[in-house]
Amino acid sequence: MILVISGTNRRGSNTSKVARKYFEYLQEKTTEVKFLDLSEIPTDFVSPDMYAEKAPSLEKIEEEYLFPAQKMMIVMPEYNGSFPGIFKLLIDACDIKQAFYNKKACLAGVSSGRAGNLRGMDTMTNMLNYIRMDVLKNKLPISGIDRLLSEDGSFGHEDTLKLMHAQADQFLEF
Ligand SMILES: Cc1cc2nc3c(=O)[nH]c(=O)nc-3n(C[C@H](O)[C@H](O)[C@H](O)COP(=O)(O)O)c2cc1C
Repeated sequence: MILVISGTNRRGSNTSKVARKYFEYLQEKTTEVKFLDLSEIPTDFVSPDMYAEKAPSLEKIEEEYLFPAQKMMIVMPEYNGSFPGIFKLLIDACDIKQAFYNKKACLAGVSSGRAGNLRGMDTMTNMLNYIRMDVLKNKLPISGIDRLLSEDGSFGHEDTLKLMHAQADQFLEF
């Protein structure tokens, strides 16, 4: 199963719009795909006890999304030059071996500014390599996202979609 992750809990995020386009495209290519939007997960797994006792809400996310995934398409916004803290918290709270070890990842970054979260993708690559994941070399920075949105705020920028589809095709082969 390929898991598409929208890597922020910000309500109404542009990252979620981009991630959903990856999800829709991958759904056309394979039946084995799920979507995890971090704005829809409960945050009660965050507590001083989270490293010792796992919240039932997190167990559910692990069982339904993280453990069955062999590949993860991760879309992350740029927040203060890196990826959002909620995503790191989720990783720190998980059973790393079952959730991430020996799996494959593909990264895309989303930003209002010019970098398209290049730094955050590099940081994430190092971390994912540390937890034994292979990361597709083709990482896609999507910069100036506000200029790529339609007037109604939706995302369907043709040239960017072409790059996303080419990257997703490579990930399917990876
Ligand atoms: C907490 C926070 C920090 C941000 N830091 C940056 C930044 O360092 N560079 C940048 O280009 N945009 C930054 N942005 C703007 C985001 O890139 C912009 O909101 C974009 O749409 C992607 O985030 P989103 O998925 O939450 O919409 C920041 C936004 C937030 C909410």
